[in-house]
Amino acid sequence: MLTTIIYRSHLCDEVSYAMLEEMVAAATLKNGKANVTGILLFNGTHFFQLLEGPEESVVPIYDAICADPRHYNVVELLRDYGPSRRFGKVGMELFDLRDQHRDEVLQTVLDKGTSKYQLAYEDRALQFFQTFVEEGEKENYFEIPTGDAWEFISDGNAVALPITASASDADCRFAFQPLIDPFARKVVAIEALLRTPSGDSPQAWFEGLSGDALYAADLQSKKVAFAQAGALNLGALTLSVNLLPMTLVEIPDAVDFILQEIAANGLVPEQVIVEFTEREVISRLDEFTRAVKMLKGAGIRVAIDHFGAGFAGLLLLAQFQPDRIKINRDMIKDVHKSGSRQAIIHAIIKCCTSLEIQIAAVGVEKAQEWMWLESAGISQFQGYLFARPSLTGIPAVSWPEMRDNA
Ligand SMILES: Cc1cc2nc3c(=O)[nH]c(=O)nc-3n(C[C@H](O)[C@H](O)[C@H](O)COP(=O)(O)O)c2cc1C
Repeated sequence: MLTTIIYRSHLCDEVSYAMLEEMVAAATLKNGKANVTGILLFNGTHFFQLLEGPEESVVPIYDAICADPRHYNVVELLRDYGPSRRFGKVGMELFDLRDQHRDEVLQTVLDKGTSKYQLAYEDRALQFFQTFVEEGEKENYFEIPTGDAWEFISDGNAVALPITASASDADCRFAFQPLIDPFARKVVAIEALLRTPSGDSPQAWFEGLSGDALYAADLQSKKVAFAQAGALNLGALTLSVNLLPMTLVEIPDAVDFILQEIAANGLVPEQVIVEFTEREVISRLDEFTRAVKMLKGAGIRVAIDHFGAGFAGLLLLAQFQPDRIKINRDMIKDVHKSGSRQAIIHAIIKCCTSLEIQIAAVGVEKAQEWMWLESAGISQFQGYLFARPSLTGIPAVSWPEMRDNA
């Protein structure tokens, strides 16, 4: 399969131009043997490269390039497939944008085209060339230091769940995980995550339940969540609990039940956020929106979890604006390396900023993911990088500290 990969990256400070020329000479030979075309643009700071050829040759070369210490912040912009090459001459060609006028570079690149159809700017790959040459996206090139620039130091402030609260005879329990603002060094909220008595996932707990029994069980489980949260003495801290959207719709007095359990455990509605998973909302959106009004009327805030992962997506946001959206791991995984994820997250941030909706990134595991998201404008994070969910109470948080030599 003929494959095209385009990426951009930053040159490392300590690499000289002579070293670059050596690298290009070696790459010309290697690409030639592998039947791969490499067109490399360099603007003095950033690289932009197109690699084209058989998939089985292009992918290992790209993997080697990603691991090359002479550059960093490698972001994949395009991975595409086609019947014929755009550029026929295998090997490697370097264009130094400092030596040539923008228009000349673009024309030279176009002239290299060997596709039987004339290369046109509608071609996505060429659009990427044009944008790079014209510095169209430069404000989105974030300088992310390597992952080891930060260390994560535990504050040791775990809060243990009293034995009496954890050893209840309920058929479920909750793991607690903080949502934090790392730069403000602040815990924003504590999420209560449903688990089976043996600590298994919500999917395992819901297994075998359906229809009314499922919604009734979902609602009843909140009794345990609020009881455990009450026993943790949250003070003014915000508590997030998850609810299936249809639980609110199917159980007429669900909101009253929730309010009653909040009060019974010494909490107040204003400190509670109910999180819905977007995937289930779509089927009866009008009824769901009405039920949410009742929650909001009682002072409870609302968040959409797994934003973008379900079916409703942007239509949901058009009809109903929550107080917070949570972007899940599926979307933020390796965001520092992925042009498509970066573009989507920039769009989500822009949209939520216009609507004054808070954004949190959930499932953050790598320092670079956190750094990229923080540079893009997200300040609330949840994930293993900072604290894993704990069945024994509120876990300590590992806060990022810049290493001295970074
Ligand atoms: C910006 C940049 C572009 C590169 N382009 C290529 C390339 O097109 N082909 C290639 O084989 N190596 C390229 N390299 C070098 C690879 O990262 C790597 O050093 C090389 O593939 C190792 O080859 P070897 O294992 O055969 O020595 C590039 C490196 C950098 C920093």
